[in-house]
Amino acid sequence: MTSPPTQTYDAIILGGGAAGLFAAATAGQRGRKVLVVDHAPRVGQKILISGGGRCNFTNIHTAPDRYISANPHFAKSALGRYTAADFLELIDAYRIAWHEKTLGQLFCDGSAGQIVDMLLDECAKGDVAIATGHPVRDVGHADGRFSVTFGNRTASAPALVIATGGPSIPKLGASDFAYVLARRFGLKVVEPRPALVPLTLGGDEMLFRGIAGVSTDVVARAGKAAFREAALFTHRGLSGPAILQASSYWRLGEAVAIDLLPDRPAGWLRTAKRDQPRVGVKRALGLPERLADALAERLALAGELANIPDRALEAAERQLADWRFHPNGTEGFAKAEVTVGGIATDGLSQKTMEAKTVPGLYAIGEAVDVTGWLGGYNFQWAWASGRACGEAI
Ligand code: FDA
Repeated sequence: MTSPPTQTYDAIILGGGAAGLFAAATAGQRGRKVLVVDHAPRVGQKILISGGGRCNFTNIHTAPDRYISANPHFAKSALGRYTAADFLELIDAYRIAWHEKTLGQLFCDGSAGQIVDMLLDECAKGDVAIATGHPVRDVGHADGRFSVTFGNRTASAPALVIATGGPSIPKLGASDFAYVLARRFGLKVVEPRPALVPLTLGGDEMLFRGIAGVSTDVVARAGKAAFREAALFTHRGLSGPAILQASSYWRLGEAVAIDLLPDRPAGWLRTAKRDQPRVGVKRALGLPERLADALAERLALAGELANIPDRALEAAERQLADWRFHPNGTEGFAKAEVTVGGIATDGLSQKTMEAKTVPGLYAIGEAVDVTGWLGGYNFQWAWASGRACGEAI
């Protein structure tokens, strides 16, 4: 049996997620002949489940300091050239209704499917060919051309784009393929770890599992980062937006410091003692009852405020403002929204995303060591890096 002839393209994009489809549409509309290859049965699966099905497609406060990377300057160029306002213009051109939920986070009013449909429409305008449901069997590189074998087909092109994302949520088709391929071409990979992920508690702190389901507004700190949002106690430990954000900066062995009452002014417990001497600590906290119970028990301050010495109240205040949790891990890639780490940026051009040592090879999106905060930042990176690459290939 003879194998079908190799099909030739100007660019082959591996991965039909947010970054891959956006790069494909950009290049296709510039007249390039583009092929997207994805092993999943359909493209854009993470987009479909994102933002609770409504896709938080960008954040109007996008700025490079809201991204984690070994080189914090790397993302500046692409983010500066394709902004949240640019993506919003596209959304508006497709008459996709949207709203700002909180903190600059823009969501579809309808469904995330509208974003995938828009990307597919943009790809169609550029005559992009899309092949789904075929694992990549082989990638070759000779004489300035890349060849990709998938299913029973082989395609070749002078440009190859790695857009296969990171390993978070493997059940959706996520894989570490990007890192394996990048290493094969001599690129370095910054150790990937799960991010925007719930943290697990053990030891004495397991007692907090007893209040699973309780949520409260906090400031959560990990490393030098601090996030004011809700924290949620879970059966395994801690979650909620404040914790997910902090998790991207957290390292095993470190504490996560939580201010459980971020709006209380210094000295508030002594003021409460003066104003409401007959009240106990638990009521003075004004937190959800089960959380107040758990904290009051650990603070070991029984009885009315009037009978508690000022020094003990001051110590309690300090502890409540800086409660140290010592996570023993995370819920891993199975539950992580994104991956911190990835293809090292020092091997890539910040203007085009092309590998410095392998002309024609590009890497974009989550596969690269650029990870955004929670709230639309990761899609904005996918659009911006996809656009930068699509304009270059
Ligand atoms: P993405 O993962 O989207 O696409 C990679 C593609 O490559 C996939 O289609 C995959 O099938 C394919 N692929 C993988 N391995 C392959 C292989 N070996 N061969 C061929 N194809 C392969 N971000 C945000 O900004 N706002 C939000 O609301 C959310 N919400 C959200 C919810 C959940 C549950 C998750 C898991 C993640 C989010 N995110 C998010 C993060 C966001 O989804 C993520 O950052 C982008 O999808 C990254 O886009 P990429 O195109 O880089 O990868």
